[in-house]
Amino acid sequence: MPKTPDYFQNRTILITGGASGIGRATAMIFAREGANVIVADIDAAGAEATAAEVRKSNTGAEAIAVDVTDRPSVDAMITRGIEAFGHIDFLFNSAGAAGRRSSFLDIDAELWRKTYALNVDGIFNTMQSVLPHMIENNHGVIVNIASMAHRRGGPGHSTHYASAKGAVVTLTMGVAREFVDRGIRALSISPGPIDTAFQAISSPELKQRMTDDVPMKRMGTPEEIGEMVLFMCSDACEYMTADTVYINGGGGFR
Ligand SMILES: NC(=O)c1ccc[n+]([C@@H]2O[C@H](COP(=O)([O-])OP(=O)(O)OC[C@H]3O[C@@H](n4cnc5c(N)ncnc54)[C@H](O)[C@@H]3O)[C@@H](O)[C@H]2O)c1
Repeated sequence: MPKTPDYFQNRTILITGGASGIGRATAMIFAREGANVIVADIDAAGAEATAAEVRKSNTGAEAIAVDVTDRPSVDAMITRGIEAFGHIDFLFNSAGAAGRRSSFLDIDAELWRKTYALNVDGIFNTMQSVLPHMIENNHGVIVNIASMAHRRGGPGHSTHYASAKGAVVTLTMGVAREFVDRGIRALSISPGPIDTAFQAISSPELKQRMTDDVPMKRMGTPEEIGEMVLFMCSDACEYMTADTVYINGGGGFR
C-alpha cells in the first residue's frame, strides 16, 4: 500500500500484457487506487475490455494494441500513452509467455528465438523507449515480471523460458543501477505458479507437480502479484531497487 493514501491519484501506469492474467489484475488494483491505466497488449480486444473495466472505477484508461517485440510498435505506444495522460509514471512489463514446454534437446531455433524475443527483447524495447521520458521527469518506477523458473533452470520442460527470465532479472538490475541517480527505480518479481491462462500449456501432471511442491499447496492468484506491483511503485518502497522479489507460497518447484 502507498504511504500517502492518495499517492496514485493522477499518476499513470502503463501495463504490457494488460489484457489478461497478472497484467489485467494489476490494472484493476491501480484503478482501485485512482491511477490512470494504459492497457497495452497484442490482444487489442482484450486490452479494450480491461480498459472498459478500469473506467468503471472512474479513473482514466487507454487501450493500445502493441507487439512488444516490435520496436516501432513500442515507440508508438509510449508516444500515445504520454499524449493520453501527459506522463507515464510507472511501467509494468507483464507481457510474456513460455511458448510451449519442451525438453532441452527438442528446443528448436524458432521456439528459442520467439521466447527471447517476447520475454527479453520485449522489456528491452519498452524500457529503452520510456526511460528518456522518465529521466526528463526525474521520476519513474519500472517493474518487470521474471519467474521463479530462473532459480530452477526449468529442467525437462522450460530451459528456454527460465533462461530468458534470468535475463529479465539481470537486465532489470543493470537498468536500476545505471539510472539510480536519475529518479528511476527498477525491480523484478519472480512468481511461482500463478493461476492464469499462462498455465494452459502445462499438462495436468505438471500443474500437480508444481502445486505439490509449493509449501502452501496452491497456485498464486494474479491479484497477489498485482498488490506487490502497487507496493513497489508506491512511496512506501523508496529504498528498494534492482532486486527481484519472490512470490511463491514458500518456494517450490524443483
Ligand atoms: N502464470 C504463471 O504461472 C507465471 C509464473 C511466473 C511468471 N509469469 C509471467 O507473468 C507474466 C504474465 O503472465 P500471465 O500469467 O498473466 O499470462 P497471460 O497469458 O494471462 O497474460 C499474458 C499477456 O501477454 C500478452 N502478450 C503476449 N505476447 C505479446 C506481445 N508480443 N506484445 C504484447 N502483449 C503480448 C498476451 O496477449 C496476454 O494478454 C508473463 O511474463 C509470464 O511469463 C507467469
